Amino acid sequence: MDFDELFERRSTHSAKWDRMEESYGISKDEGLPMHVAEMDFRPPKEIQNKLRELNQHGFYGYFADFTEYENSIKWWMKTRHNWDIGKSKIFATHGLVNGMALCVDAFTKPEDEIIMFTPMYHAFFNVLNATDRKIKEFPLLLEDGKYRMDFAKYKKQLSGKETMLIFCSPHNPGGRVWSPSELNEVADFCKENELLLVSDEIHHDLIMPGSTHTVMPIAAPQINDHLIMLTANTKTFNIAGIHTGNVIISNTKLATIFERKMKSLGLGPNALGIHLATAGYSEGAANWLDSLLTYLAENFRIFNSGIDKIPGCKAMPAEGTYLAWVDFSGTGMSREEFTSRIEKSAKITTVHGSEMGKGGETYMRFNIATPKSRVIEAVERMQKAFKDLQ
Ligand SMILES: Cc1ncc(COP(=O)(O)O)c(C=O)c1O
Repeated sequence: MDFDELFERRSTHSAKWDRMEESYGISKDEGLPMHVAEMDFRPPKEIQNKLRELNQHGFYGYFADFTEYENSIKWWMKTRHNWDIGKSKIFATHGLVNGMALCVDAFTKPEDEIIMFTPMYHAFFNVLNATDRKIKEFPLLLEDGKYRMDFAKYKKQLSGKETMLIFCSPHNPGGRVWSPSELNEVADFCKENELLLVSDEIHHDLIMPGSTHTVMPIAAPQINDHLIMLTANTKTFNIAGIHTGNVIISNTKLATIFERKMKSLGLGPNALGIHLATAGYSEGAANWLDSLLTYLAENFRIFNSGIDKIPGCKAMPAEGTYLAWVDFSGTGMSREEFTSRIEKSAKITTVHGSEMGKGGETYMRFNIATPKSRVIEAVERMQKAFKDLQ
């Protein structure tokens, strides 16, 4: 796979490439989109070939028999994450924002408080704000430029109305790959306070050299009866448009409640999504992933070191994901000012940290999963937009 190849993605109904004008006022002829979390690389050939095969057959009917799909997930989790899923139930949802929303609907009630460590992936705010649950923001702590959790402080802020904790591992937007001891603290905190733990691990395959991701059931098996795992390979292989994710539940009571919730909403599998996700859980695609990770690590190096050269700007060290998280507080500029420089001068689209809860206000999130030449261009545009600080 040649990750350097530049593809034209404009005028293809792409949420990333075709909405810069509407969302940011940046023309798509000039804009460099770094906001939406998808890559500008074609997926591995195993996935492309599967689609060709389906196309040749030419039938797109309802899907049945999940055995191959489930076995492929079990194989992937065992070989890549050392996780034996065993008899846990696997539910295919319409992606993981949907999976998370279903968990909220199935396992919490109006007025319940739902804990999130902030800053946190903005789509979860959008979902929760549209429900009658209350978001309880527990800001992450910054220590030596890295996010940590501060349980002593969080414990003091509990009201007793909290019923669920939504956790993001690896962390979006900060790219933290949590250590087993940190994961244990999260699990113990949930157990002690009778919180259901929803662990969103969609970025679990996107781990940079030097870091190791541990899935929650391996790090903290004591939480398994109160744990809902969210996984998918849509980020891994750049097939987010298929909107297919897995909600994995080992506790049978919880699994029954979840199954009923899916039934009550008439949710069924997306055949195309299941076929393509299954094709991704394979040895060939795993090799593609290994090459991708090397490429992404170099992109991170180029982007983060280029950004760090701008006085007052600081990129968080990248441990996982393909999202660079940049703090502009050191520039002394207002949010309006640095946003204007990024959007009006550099013509780069980002996700604003201010949409991600407490602690995100001075940050912007840049997606670096694009050919290297564009990452270099992004750095040049940013250095130019903040040239007066040099
Ligand atoms: C942490 C996290 N969860 C879920 C999603 C989206 O999942 P889906 O596209 O399956 O709804 C994203 C996408 O960026 C994400 O970063």
